[in-house]
Amino acid sequence: MAEPAEVRNIKVLVVDDEAMIREILTDFLEVEGYVVHAAGNGREAIEALDREPYDLVLSDLKMPELDGLALLSHIHERELDPVVVMMTGFGTVETAIEAMKKGAFDYILKPFKVEEVIQVMERGLERKRLIRENIQLKEAVTLYKLTEAIGSTLSLNRVLDLAMKVVEDELSPDFTALCYRDKPSRPIELRLTRTPKSGGLKLTLGEEHFGRLQQFVDADAPILLNNEHVGIVLEGAGEDVARARSFMAVPLRMDGKLSGYLCVGSANPNRRYNEGQRRLLAIIGSKAGIAIDNARLYEDLKRMFRETIQGLAMALEAKDDYTRGHSDRVTEYSRMIAIGMKLPQRDVEIITNSGLMHDIGKMGIAPEELHKPGKLTDDEYERLKKHPEMGARILGPVSFLEEVVPGVIHHHERWDGQGYPAGLKGEEIPLPARVLAVADAYDAMTSDRSYRKALGHDMAVSELRKHSGTQFDPRIVEVFIHEIERLRLGMTQAA
Ligand SMILES: [Fe+2]
Repeated sequence: MAEPAEVRNIKVLVVDDEAMIREILTDFLEVEGYVVHAAGNGREAIEALDREPYDLVLSDLKMPELDGLALLSHIHERELDPVVVMMTGFGTVETAIEAMKKGAFDYILKPFKVEEVIQVMERGLERKRLIRENIQLKEAVTLYKLTEAIGSTLSLNRVLDLAMKVVEDELSPDFTALCYRDKPSRPIELRLTRTPKSGGLKLTLGEEHFGRLQQFVDADAPILLNNEHVGIVLEGAGEDVARARSFMAVPLRMDGKLSGYLCVGSANPNRRYNEGQRRLLAIIGSKAGIAIDNARLYEDLKRMFRETIQGLAMALEAKDDYTRGHSDRVTEYSRMIAIGMKLPQRDVEIITNSGLMHDIGKMGIAPEELHKPGKLTDDEYERLKKHPEMGARILGPVSFLEEVVPGVIHHHERWDGQGYPAGLKGEEIPLPARVLAVADAYDAMTSDRSYRKALGHDMAVSELRKHSGTQFDPRIVEVFIHEIERLRLGMTQAA
C-alpha cells in the first residue's frame, strides 16, 4: 500500500480547457493530498512543464491551441518523464489509444468518477517508481562492477578505458573527454577523447575551457549546461560547438586536489543531461580520480625501483673498466631484437627490463674473482655460474619484477640444452632469456675483456652465425643481425 500522497509530495498537472473539470479535479486531488497545478490548454501546460518537473500529467485530449497528442510529443521530445494519463470522451477513444502508443500510461473515459482517476494515477505512479528503482539498481550494479575492475588493476590505461566505457554505456554521449594533469606542477591537459563514429562531436578543450570549468568548481556550482548555455564553457572549442545540445563535467580530484575533469557532451536534442546523470558522472569521476592516483603511485614506485636496480648495475660495472656500460648495451640490443621480432609492447618492456637486470646476481660475487685477469679455477667458475640464480633471488620477491626473473635466471641456457642453470633446450628456454643470450654474447665479444681484446663487428657476427642452432636460437640470431646491420648502415649514412 502506497503512502498517502501528501507524504510523497506528488506534483500533478491537470490540463483541460473546461474550467469546471479543472476545478473539480484540482479540489478533489488536493483533498487527497496531491500538489496540483492546473493549465487551460496544451500551451499553458508546456509552460508549466518547462518551469518545474511534475510526477503526473492528467490531460484532456481535445483542446484548442495545442491538444493532448501535441503535448505528449513535447514531453517526449524534451525527455521529460511524468506519468501521462489522458482524459477523453467516447468519440475519441481511438485517439486515446494513439496517445498510449506515443507513451501515455492510460486513458480515462469521460464522464468519470474521481476515485477511478485516483486508481489509474496510482497505478501509473507505482509503475514509474518500479522503473526508477530498476534504473537505480542497474546503475548501482554498473558502478559496483567499475569499482571492482578498478580495484583489480593498476594499469592506468586499463583504468581509463574502463571509466570511459562506463560513461559511454550509461550516458550515450557524442563526446567524452578526460583531462588531467600529469604531475602536480603541470597544467591540466586534454588526455583522452572519444567520439562515436556517426554524429560524434569533435571538441578541442584547452586552457581557456579549463579556466571556465575552474570558475564553476570555485563557486561550488554543478557543471550541467543545456541548449545555448553550452557556449558558456565550450565557446572556442571548435566548429562542433554549434551542434552541442548538452554538456556536463565533473572535477577529478587526485590526492585531494583538483587535477582535471571528466566531460561529456551530447549533440542529440532529445538527449539533454539532467542532474541525476550528472551525479552518476560525478561518481564515475571520483572512482577514476582515485584509480589514476593509485596507478600513478604504482608507476612511480616501479620507476624508482628500476632506477635503483639500474644504479646497482652501474655500481657493479663501475668497479671494472671492462664491463662498464655492458648492462646498458645489452638492454639496448635486447630491445632492438624484441622490436625487430614485432613483439607486443608489453613483451618489449619485459625483455628490456630483463636486459637491464640480467647480471645483477654478480653483486654476490667477490670483485677480485669477477674481474680476475687470468683463467678462473674450477671453484671460481662454479661460483660465477651461480649469478643467474642469485639474480632471480634478488628480484623474485619484488612483485612487479617477477616478470624479469625468467630472462635473468635462464640467460646462460643454450639452445642445445648444454647451458646452465637448468639445462633447458630450444623453446623450453623462456623467450626473454633467448634474446638476452644473443645480446649478451655480441656485447661480450665486441668489448675488451680483462683476458682478451674486443672482436670486430664482422667477426662477432660470424661467431653468432657459427653458434646459431647450438648455442643460440637461430631465429633470434637472424633478427639481431638484420637489425644491427640496419643500425650500423644508418649510422654510417648519417656520418
Ligand atoms: Fe650473465
